[in-house]
Amino acid sequence: QPISVIGMPMDLGQGRRGVDMGPSAIRYAKLQSTLEALGFDVEDLGNIEVPSPESIDIGENHLKFLSAICDVNEHLAKAVSNVVERKRFPLVLGGDHSMAIGTIAGVAKHYENLGLIWYDAHGDLNTGDTSPSGNIHGMPLAASLGFGHPSLVNIGNYSPKVKPGNVVLIGIRELDKGEQEIAREIGLKVFTMHEVDRLGLARVMEEALSIVGTGTDGVHLSLDLDGLDPKDAPGVGTPVAGGITYRESHLALEMMSESKLITSAEFVEVNPILDRENMTAEVAVALISSLFGKKIL
Ligand code: ARG
Ligand code: MN
Ligand code: MN
Ligand code: MN
Repeated sequence: QPISVIGMPMDLGQGRRGVDMGPSAIRYAKLQSTLEALGFDVEDLGNIEVPSPESIDIGENHLKFLSAICDVNEHLAKAVSNVVERKRFPLVLGGDHSMAIGTIAGVAKHYENLGLIWYDAHGDLNTGDTSPSGNIHGMPLAASLGFGHPSLVNIGNYSPKVKPGNVVLIGIRELDKGEQEIAREIGLKVFTMHEVDRLGLARVMEEALSIVGTGTDGVHLSLDLDGLDPKDAPGVGTPVAGGITYRESHLALEMMSESKLITSAEFVEVNPILDRENMTAEVAVALISSLFGKKIL
């Protein structure tokens, strides 16, 4: 399937500058030529326009930059939706994770039952009421499930985007109190690092893929680079020790590729300012290659 790349230079959803440069860093790590070498038709649609935080009002402290985040996510949702309509694979580069609200809004309206893999150290299940930080990058999964501020929840003019039973979280090792409560309440399938260590990543992926692959008509991958261990992916704004390794992550993406289930993907939270020699963007490109079927032999 042909691939369309969209950059989302978003940094309004969190407090540290630099993650707006993530899309450039991933492109600089030879994304397009790598995918073309694998035989794909790749078009790059450029970036969605995002205002810089210095130029706009932060608004209320428990939902920082809410109105700008909603605006740019509407634009992203339209761009992503157009790609799906053109029967191409949307590959979105971030940018902080608040952009997932827009990506998923653009994808999910084309599916009756979208599956979702949330690969992350965090659950991103906060709302304006539970968030300790007010940073909207900690809220996109909640919003996509229909929880939180109405203007986040209703991006694309519909809600919810995904049903709890079609979602799996992988790599989780930090949940705020409110996030634990909502995860339990709605019965989310969370593969924390405990499960990864106990079962091994292969077993976790088998179970995860069987959940998102049953009764669904498409699966979106939302991969936050902080799901990986900070030793392997240091260029992220909210690192948490004890994560999924580089090798395990390759295995995970290879298994996603073999499953042929994934119909859209985003790679988010790459922050080149906090990185070492663009290592995290290079990891992103390497993982994207595995997702698109790169084989060693
Ligand atoms: N749970 C914390 C918060 O709500 C951290 C969220 C980190 N999210 C991310 N996409 N890196 O602020
Ligand atoms: Mn607008
Ligand atoms: Mn995270
Ligand atoms: Mn995240």
